[in-house]
Amino acid sequence: MIKDYFAGKYPRGWFAVLFSDEIKTGEIKSLSYFGREFVAFRGENGQVSVLDAFCPHLGAHLGDGKCEGNTIVCPFHEWKFSQTGACVDVPYATRIPVKAKEGALQSHPVREVNQIVHMWFDPAGAPPTWELPLDECMNGAPGWTRWYFKRWRIRTQGKEIIENLVDTPHFTYVHGSPIEDIVIRFDGHVASQQSTIGGHPTLGKKLTTEATYFGPAVQHITMDGTYPSKQVNIHTPVDTEHVDVCYGIKLQRDPALHDTDAIAREYARFAHEAFEQDVVIWQRKIYRAAPLLCDGDGPLFQLRDWYRQFFEDEIRSV
Ligand code: FES
Ligand SMILES: [Fe+2]
Repeated sequence: MIKDYFAGKYPRGWFAVLFSDEIKTGEIKSLSYFGREFVAFRGENGQVSVLDAFCPHLGAHLGDGKCEGNTIVCPFHEWKFSQTGACVDVPYATRIPVKAKEGALQSHPVREVNQIVHMWFDPAGAPPTWELPLDECMNGAPGWTRWYFKRWRIRTQGKEIIENLVDTPHFTYVHGSPIEDIVIRFDGHVASQQSTIGGHPTLGKKLTTEATYFGPAVQHITMDGTYPSKQVNIHTPVDTEHVDVCYGIKLQRDPALHDTDAIAREYARFAHEAFEQDVVIWQRKIYRAAPLLCDGDGPLFQLRDWYRQFFEDEIRSV
């Protein structure tokens, strides 16, 4: 029997953890990902940091603490930590323990691009090996709306979600939108799909999409349907059996439209309903390491080979 190579493992890469407007200056957010606990906080310099959540002193959860300037203060004895996880103050000690000064708390690389906060996670603890592209239209360009997003915490794994990229027949049977033309490419840590879809009940009479994964869990989509839109399909493992999967959409502003934001909200609702059709399937399906395929299926094994690079220490994308 072929074994499931991905079972019980986490891939290496950039993972979206928050939209920018979910974490304001001075705010702290607790994050439960990769079977671990983290805290994110935005200092007064505007920078978001992600640190391990448990204080190196006596283990309190820093998510219950407060943000002061560019530091996070533990709720238990008010040790204070910098954005890189170094202890910078112990209010009742004459001297900060040396070990506490040197990054007592692990900090994790963060990139806030496209109005989304991403953290780098590598089970082996290695630094990032690629960067996420900045898309001006996603990054707050004035001609575009804000992100309208929805997040689901579900019982599935990233390996299921990414398979949508090559699963051409499901577009007809799950979404009611048959694919007319599709080109799939794999290149290093990038996997992309360009397609023309012959109409969708709510998203447009004809859809042209370009959907690209940058690493295992962040997909950028440019879609022309009823309206030109940018979309993100992002997922982050909560543990080895659950993920937070999130779908975001923003529309290009059109002066001819009365209220692009109201339209974007409604259009996002349609997009989320379409995405939910996949969510329902993922929640209950099992993973077939050796599926029985037919000649009308997409290049599933090629996709799995591509995904495997994020789990193998010996293969590093450039
Ligand atoms: S547990 Fe954090 S300061 Fe004591
Ligand atoms: Fe789908």
